[in-house]
Amino acid sequence: MAILVTGGAGYIGSVMVDQLVEAGERVVVIDDVSRGHRAALDSAVPFYEGKVGDRELIGRVCREHGVEACVHFAALAYVGESVTDPKLYFENNVAEGLGLLDGLLAAGVGRFVFSSTCATYGEPVRVPIDESHPQSPVNPYGWSKFFVERILEAYDAAYGLRFVALRYFNASGATAKRGEHHEPETHLIPNVLGAAAGRLPFVSVFGADYPTPDGTCVRDYIHVTDLCSAHTLALSYLKRGGKSEFINLGNGHGYSVMEVIEAARRVTGREIEVRVEAARPGDPARLVADARKAREVLGWQTQYPELEAIVRTAWDWHQAHPQGY
Ligand SMILES: NC(=O)c1ccc[n+]([C@@H]2O[C@H](COP(=O)([O-])OP(=O)(O)OC[C@H]3O[C@@H](n4cnc5c(N)ncnc54)[C@H](O)[C@@H]3O)[C@@H](O)[C@H]2O)c1
Repeated sequence: MAILVTGGAGYIGSVMVDQLVEAGERVVVIDDVSRGHRAALDSAVPFYEGKVGDRELIGRVCREHGVEACVHFAALAYVGESVTDPKLYFENNVAEGLGLLDGLLAAGVGRFVFSSTCATYGEPVRVPIDESHPQSPVNPYGWSKFFVERILEAYDAAYGLRFVALRYFNASGATAKRGEHHEPETHLIPNVLGAAAGRLPFVSVFGADYPTPDGTCVRDYIHVTDLCSAHTLALSYLKRGGKSEFINLGNGHGYSVMEVIEAARRVTGREIEVRVEAARPGDPARLVADARKAREVLGWQTQYPELEAIVRTAWDWHQAHPQGY
């Protein structure tokens, strides 16, 4: 039996593949490599270049590899791009997701772990954010994930699909082999490290008069290794017969943009020039997870609660891979 990992050539998916292989699982990957990197996967891992919405491909992969469960990372994930091109996001993240689910159900695969996001909550009405917080996304990316969550609920009720939808806060950090390489890169930590390494002239800080202690936005950074271990636990939970759940993945601590930059200055010992720019519309002041449910339901424990340790792993990877993959 094998685990199908979609988006396994991407940042988080590639770490998941390594973890599953190290745990002795058989893995098969589907990725269209539109945003990922073939080099992020070991050549020994069975890999199919294609779209997750290709029902025929999904059916064939499930039959050939005896797929028992799917971890679905494949998606487009730029908030700004989703605002200017919502059609792309609804087609890729929702319609393709429907094709994937069709293919899986037709092949008798009934366990599914889904990469959702704190962007499904929208502007928070209370922080920390628990899973019962109202969901009202403020961009098409967030809506695309929200819609898939509702589809999963309906498929559970109608077809018995069992799922865990994991709502990530800010994925960050690296392992010795895998790191973050998006083009363009919109995430804070790689951009701060890019400025430290001299690849970027400065780092932009969007807004410095938020109602936070230093005026910059506060986010919850969660290490990619910890994120992936929660997926492994979710797979075991579903295998034991656990019921479908929505679960936040965060550290439960918030760090401001300036605290991230300060941590990067300490870790790298480099100057990092900062330019304050206008706040971006739809960027909430604080996004911090209440992550108790992941501990209670999955027994999840994080290895990287400290920002500085997270930044250090990312810096080590960027130093070893200055051009990315
Ligand atoms: N990075 C974060 O902080 C974060 C936060 C919340 C949620 N997420 C979600 O986690 C998942 C993984 O994020 P990531 O940062 O690793 O992204 P990524 O872009 O690095 O990886 C996504 C992978 O999916 C592939 N892909 C996209 N659409 C596809 C399709 N239709 N068919 C086949 N392959 C396709 C891409 O080529 C890429 O390799 C995404 O679903 C994202 O929405 C990420």
